[in-house]
Amino acid sequence: MMIAIEEAERLTKEGVNNIITLEGDHPFAYEFAKRMDSHVRLVANAARLIASKTVYLNPDKAYIYGLMHDHGRYFGDVLGKRTFHGWVGYEKLKEMGYEDVAKISLTHTFLVQDFKLEDYASYPQEDLLKTKEILNKIELDDYDRLIQLCDLLPKMFGGYNTIEVRFLRIQTVYKLSPEVTKQRINEALELKKYFDEKCNCDIYELLKAEKTGDIPTRAEAEQLWEDGIRYRLTKPYGFRLEDEYRFHTKGVAIAAEKIAKHIKGMDSEKAYVMGLLHDYGKRISERQEKKFHGQEGYEQLMLLGFPEIARICLTHTFPSKDFDEKQYYYPQEWKDWAKKEMQTIEYNDYDYLIGFCDKLFEGLEMVNVKHRINKIAERYGLDECIKRELYNDSMKLKNYFDEKTGQDVYKILGIRE
Ligand SMILES: [Fe+2]
Ligand SMILES: [Fe+2]
Ligand SMILES: [Fe+2]
Repeated sequence: MMIAIEEAERLTKEGVNNIITLEGDHPFAYEFAKRMDSHVRLVANAARLIASKTVYLNPDKAYIYGLMHDHGRYFGDVLGKRTFHGWVGYEKLKEMGYEDVAKISLTHTFLVQDFKLEDYASYPQEDLLKTKEILNKIELDDYDRLIQLCDLLPKMFGGYNTIEVRFLRIQTVYKLSPEVTKQRINEALELKKYFDEKCNCDIYELLKAEKTGDIPTRAEAEQLWEDGIRYRLTKPYGFRLEDEYRFHTKGVAIAAEKIAKHIKGMDSEKAYVMGLLHDYGKRISERQEKKFHGQEGYEQLMLLGFPEIARICLTHTFPSKDFDEKQYYYPQEWKDWAKKEMQTIEYNDYDYLIGFCDKLFEGLEMVNVKHRINKIAERYGLDECIKRELYNDSMKLKNYFDEKTGQDVYKILGIRE
């Protein structure tokens, strides 16, 4: 039985709400619900548009398939670690008598029908085995293939990106090896070519797919920023100084944007977004949760699919990846984690810029480096030697950006010496 469009819409709305009901205490539930809603709608709209450009695919049917393909994600397994959502959706939809969309749920993940189990190691193997058994018995049609393609194209909050960009995210989240990633990209590009021909146009052009997708826009970043604040407010410890957090993060964002505007080759909007989200990890309290805020921010933004922003959460605290451990009064395991995670990172101007701007705020004031370091030394009771080192590290950054911008960055920001 084919599901009616109204019923598909109703089930989607219900499903998204279900995520929050079932996983309300999961730190990721709210964002995930929002993201799922946006994702299935983007897949559905893309499928409808592409179908409408062919002579043989029904656009409404394509839309419904797109809307329903991730149905299995609504049943209390936010990150899909305990179950494989394709299998869950298949069973649920079959139970309701919707065989067509049930099939889509099962087929949408695997561009190669006889897939290798080890290439999907993040899903439970028993679900995959059951899936494989059925996949081997059925035949895929162009609706299955269309949804496979459309599933790879949406950005996180709206619009579309290219397959290559999408895989930056998939590679990080599902921890795929470079070889497997490359192979999957090629399979997906083949599929795109197939539909380019069926539509007689370039699917990327049709959907206005962009080559960037792993960096949130300013509006998306502001929404994430608010989400982070809201998340912390749901915790019993909440914020001791919410105003200060808002002022600091907005301030770093605006300062980074202003400086980036004076540097050729830097993207000032990207600088703003990085500044705004550099302390995203403060959605939790380090003290209460016994977790480094840099790690929290890094992990969450990686999960959300923004690797470039995620690394800023980590790098902004340290002047380089070989930072001097005695300057940091963090538990040893936090420092060990940071060092290990930063192994593969090469600092770039964005890492330096956010690290520098981070030093320019104290309470509800923008201040110079000297003032800021004095305050830090006071707060943590640092000895003269460490204080001097911290000061020198920050001034090195200031000189670097003075040179890059060709002027005194204090002047650009309106900070007094
Ligand atoms: Fe899916
Ligand atoms: Fe999907
Ligand atoms: Fe900060």
